[in-house]
Amino acid sequence: MKDKEIKLTELDVDKFIKEKVRGISSAVGKGCAINALSGGVDSSTVTMLGHKALGTRLKTYFINNGLMREDEPQRVVSLFKRLGVPVEIIDARRQFLGALKGVTDPEEKREAITQTFYKDVFGALVKKSGAQYLLQGTILTDVDETVAGIKRQHNVFEQLGIDPHKVFGYKILEPLVQLRKDGVRKVAHVLGLPESTYNRIPFPGPALSARVIGEATAERLDIVRRATVIVEEELAGTDAFQYMAILHQDRVTGMRDGKRDFGLQIEVRCWDSVDARVAKPTRLPYETLERLAERITGEVPGVVSVTYNITTKPPSTIEAV
Ligand code: XMP
Repeated sequence: MKDKEIKLTELDVDKFIKEKVRGISSAVGKGCAINALSGGVDSSTVTMLGHKALGTRLKTYFINNGLMREDEPQRVVSLFKRLGVPVEIIDARRQFLGALKGVTDPEEKREAITQTFYKDVFGALVKKSGAQYLLQGTILTDVDETVAGIKRQHNVFEQLGIDPHKVFGYKILEPLVQLRKDGVRKVAHVLGLPESTYNRIPFPGPALSARVIGEATAERLDIVRRATVIVEEELAGTDAFQYMAILHQDRVTGMRDGKRDFGLQIEVRCWDSVDARVAKPTRLPYETLERLAERITGEVPGVVSVTYNITTKPPSTIEAV
């Protein structure tokens, strides 16, 4: 790995920002770059760094892959409009859902997302914009887990010996790759992003498809999306590192209106962690768990069972896929 980790205690944020802005400017030269903004803290931070370095020579896209949370495209575009950064929405729902059709294995699912993002969607955007570079928010934890063979994080190439220029036809710049989540949050704060962004819970690149066990169809994604709204509303007041809803593949027998209902299961996870390397389930009050169960079974069609994960990472990982 070419760059070494910058620990939170060693991070001089102003110096970091200056160096990365200079690095992006000199790499891109007089050309232009593209980046995909998902609204998470990593991609938002990269967008601000890229905007500082390149101004209008950075084209920022929000890829609507059909896997995002409720109302996310409009929310992200209007936030960045306020920050003076234009964002174009690309409707790629058909491509992603097509690539995920029939795919049930977790690593195959991750690979399908990677190929669709980098080959199909960014490949076309690079051609359209004439950009030679893609800026992205890979952080050190993404690299670690991919290299260790735990999970193929959707945005890691070079460390696996893959040359994006050869495979996809453009170069990738990763200004955050020396940081972990806690460091990125500090940089995001200094760059002027709002607290709702720099303190936002992490969200994975493969998005809600990482939270559907088995095939991620439009219908199943919609179920997990609805459950996610409830989990995020109910747990927003906790200071947990991350929380999520997961749709299981197995059904269980339940009952509704006095009749048998062989229904769906949602697992809730809520994690205490600093940097996602290790994590513990948050000791949520029982009343909160009860409210989650009541709301999810009452408001999400077909769900008859809600469970809470009580396993630490390791041996669990944070996402289920
Ligand atoms: P895991 O599930 O590996 O997650 O314990 C560790 C942290 O990384 C996030 N995550 C991802 N982030 N691309 C990303 O950018 C990915 O493919 C990906 N997979 C997991 C996860 O949400 C957690 O914060």
